Amino acid sequence: MAAQDPLFPESAVIHGVTVRRAALTGTEQADLLGEIQDIARVSRPFSLMTGWGKPMSVKMTAAGRFCWFSDRRGYRYIEAHPETNAAFPPIPALALAVWSQFETRVPPDCCLINYYGEGARMGLHQDRDEADFGYPVVSISLGDPALFRIGGIERKDPTRSFWLESGDAMVLQGDNRLAFHGIDRIKFGGSGLLPKGGRLNLTLRRVAEA
Ligand code: SIN
Ligand code: FE2
Repeated sequence: MAAQDPLFPESAVIHGVTVRRAALTGTEQADLLGEIQDIARVSRPFSLMTGWGKPMSVKMTAAGRFCWFSDRRGYRYIEAHPETNAAFPPIPALALAVWSQFETRVPPDCCLINYYGEGARMGLHQDRDEADFGYPVVSISLGDPALFRIGGIERKDPTRSFWLESGDAMVLQGDNRLAFHGIDRIKFGGSGLLPKGGRLNLTLRRVAEA
C-alpha cells in the first residue's frame, strides 16, 4: 500500500522507498533525454563485465566526475571513460534539480546513466562503493516502464517490487540506502519517449568524501 509522504504531497512511500511520481513533466523528460543523447555521443555507453566475468545486459556511461565500473578486478569508480580516457561531461541541470529535491547538503559527483534495451535487466545488488552512506542515491527513470525490486540489507531478506514509470524519481536513503535492489524486466516499447524504445535510468550519487 502506498502512503503519502508529508514532505512531498506528490510522493508516495512504496515498500519503504520514497517515489516521486512524475517528478519531471513530459517536456522536461524530452529535454533531459536530449541532454543524455548529447552526453552519449561524446561519452559512448559501454558494456561491463560483472565480477564473475558475465557481461551485463545494461549499457552504461556517466556524467559528472565519476562513473561506476566493473571488471574481473572488481567494482570501483573511475574518472575517465574506459575507451577514450576522456573526463565525463557535466551533470545536466534538470538532473541536479531532482537531486536537490531530496538532498541539499552536497551536490552529486556522479550521474550514472544506464540504458536498458529489449530484455535487459539488472540483478539484485547494493550501491556501496561510495564514501558516505549518509548521502542518498537518487534515481530518475526515462522511457519504458521497469519492474523495480527492493529487499533489505541482507541478500536473503524478502523482496517486493513495483513499477517505475518515465519521469518518476526515487530515492534510496536512511534504512534503505544499502538495501539490495535491481530491475527484473522492462516493458519494451511501453513508452514513446525513446525513439527506438528502451529505458534510461539516471542514478545520482555522492561518491567522494564531502
Ligand atoms: C541501479 O540500481 O543502478 C539502477 C536501478 C534502475 O535502473 O532503476
Ligand atoms: Fe543500484
